[in-house]
Formats: sequence, structure tokens, C-alpha cells
Amino acid sequence: MGNADHHHQSATRSHEAAEGTGAGPGHTKTGAGPDHAHAHAHGTGEADETAMAELLDLDAEVLFSYLSEVTAWVHDLAAGGPHQRILDLGSGTGAGALALAQRFEGAEVIAVDKSAYLLARLREKTRDLGVADRVRTVEADLDAAWPVFGPVDLAWASSSLHHMADPDRALGEIFATVRPGGLLVAAEIDSFPRFLADADHGSSGLEARCHDVMAGIRAEEVPHMGSDWGALLSKAGFTIEAERTFDIVLTPPLPTATGRYARASLRRIRSGLDDRLSTADLAALDTLISGDGPDGVLRRDDLTVRAEKTVWAARRP
Ligand SMILES: C[S@@+](CC[C@H](N)C(=O)[O-])C[C@H]1O[C@@H](n2cnc3c(N)ncnc32)[C@H](O)[C@@H]1O
Repeated sequence: MGNADHHHQSATRSHEAAEGTGAGPGHTKTGAGPDHAHAHAHGTGEADETAMAELLDLDAEVLFSYLSEVTAWVHDLAAGGPHQRILDLGSGTGAGALALAQRFEGAEVIAVDKSAYLLARLREKTRDLGVADRVRTVEADLDAAWPVFGPVDLAWASSSLHHMADPDRALGEIFATVRPGGLLVAAEIDSFPRFLADADHGSSGLEARCHDVMAGIRAEEVPHMGSDWGALLSKAGFTIEAERTFDIVLTPPLPTATGRYARASLRRIRSGLDDRLSTADLAALDTLISGDGPDGVLRRDDLTVRAEKTVWAARRP
């Protein structure tokens, strides 16, 4: 699907909350990530990684306009200084790394993740996009000793900071890695993507109930999600240049990838909710997820995508 499609389909309302030394260009909205996939306990097997890779890829595809808008904004923020080296922390399958490689022509991009599988997927894409010579991957657990990356002109962390066991430590490492005058751009999800109307097919409030249960699980298992990242970035020594909230509202007609995105998302949700929802709700979820039926999200043409994401642009003084 083309970019133009995404732009037409996303109702971009947005607000921007300036923090620190002023706001960047205001606007937009879009964006949400598959963080829900991480918001509950999940397996570590190959099937799990395959599902995660699919979800991350679909997230990047369906929310293309968000990513495109953010990287354009970051490009503006980075203007005036060198931007030869870019570091994507917790890169997954490369949504950010690849978008940045395309946005910052000629820059070297280092994609870091603890998952060899996700990095292999990323490398395949670099070849398809013709940027393999400029994008390299580093497999590393950022909760352990950090590889030496620096100095970098731009560090990018999308939906990854909250995974760090000790975000303060990670931010200290990032601060030391970014050159003076360089940027850290951190994106975090505020709510999980939603796809269904409140009274969806007789399962009134189903998606809201799923999200409520997941919020409880998330609070226990991913305690750093929803942290006051602006304050943490400042504490690490960065100057916040802008904090922008991107709301996504994609309405029908939407590309077919939307159905696959909804299915992949609901599958992840379903896997964490086994004993926590009523039998009726679990059955309704299964109907939505299961492949080919007319009520399955894969074939539905009435889905919307709603999500919210916040992005901080912070500069090392
Ligand atoms: C929600 S995904 C986001 C992926 C990508 N940034 C994106 O926006 O599509 C979080 C990523 O962080 C990685 N991650 C989590 N903890 C990590 C750690 N301690 N060290 C390195 N990577 C980590 C995961 O493997 C996963 O790829």
C-alpha cells in the first residue's frame, strides 16, 4: 500500500505538549506499537518470535504514516549538525532503523536487539531495500554490559525503553553514547491498538475488557511502561526539546494488512488472557481471530485502528 493511502486514511488530529526548551512542529497523530505483545508473559519459542516478527512488521506497515511523520520531524530536528551515525535500540525487525536509513541518506545505522531472530529478519529487509551496506545489526542484551557504539548523532528507542530492567541505567548509557548536541528520540505507547467498535458483533465491550485485564497484567510484568519518560530523560542529563502525542485513527476502507494486523494483535492478547476472561469472551475472541470465517477480523472491512503514542525528542547538551 502506498503512503498516500495511509495519509488519506488516517484522521490526523494531534496535540503536542511542549516540555523543556520548546516544542517542535506541532501536529500529527498516528502511531501505536505492538507493545501489547510484550505486555504480558509470553513464550520464548520460535513460534513466539515468528508471531512477534509478524506483528512488528504489520505494525510498521499499517502505521506507516506515523513513522514517516516522526522521521521527517526528527530529520528537521537533526538539521544543522552531522547525522552520520544512528543507533536503534531494541530495533525489533527494523521499523525505525530502516525508516531512518531511508530518511537519513548515507547515514550508518546500527540496529541493536537481543533477539537474533528479529535481527535476521531486519537484515533480510536491508537487502530488499538496498541499504544493507549502511545498516548493521548488533545482537546484545541491553540489560547487560553495553557494547561500545558511540559516539552517535542520533539514538532512537521505540517501544523499547520500558523493557529495560533499569531504565535509568540504560538512559545513562545512551547519554554517554550520544555525542554532545546529538539527539535521543524515544517513543512509547500509551494504549494498545484497538480495532473494534464498542458493540462489536454482539460482544459488547469485549475489546475494552481485554485491555482492562491486560493493563493489570502489564502493571505487574512491565512496570516501567507508562513511566514519566520526560522526567527520566531530563534526569539522565538530556534537554527535552519536544514531547508530542500522536493519535492514530485509521478508518475504513483500509488496506488488507489491517486485518492481519488486528488478527496478530488479538492473537497476542488472547495468549495472555486464558484464565482471565469469561468463557463467552474467550469464545468471541476466538471467533475474531480464527481465520476464514466472515466474523474473523481477517475478512472484516469495518475495522478501525485507534492508538496513541508519545514521542520525546531530547538533546544532549
Ligand atoms: C515492542 S518491540 C519494539 C521493536 C521496534 N523498536 C519497533 O518499534 O518496531 C521491543 C524490542 O525490544 C527488544 N528488547 C527488549 N529488551 C531488550 C534488551 N534487554 N536488550 C535488547 N533488546 C531488547 C525486543 O527484543 C523487541 O525487539
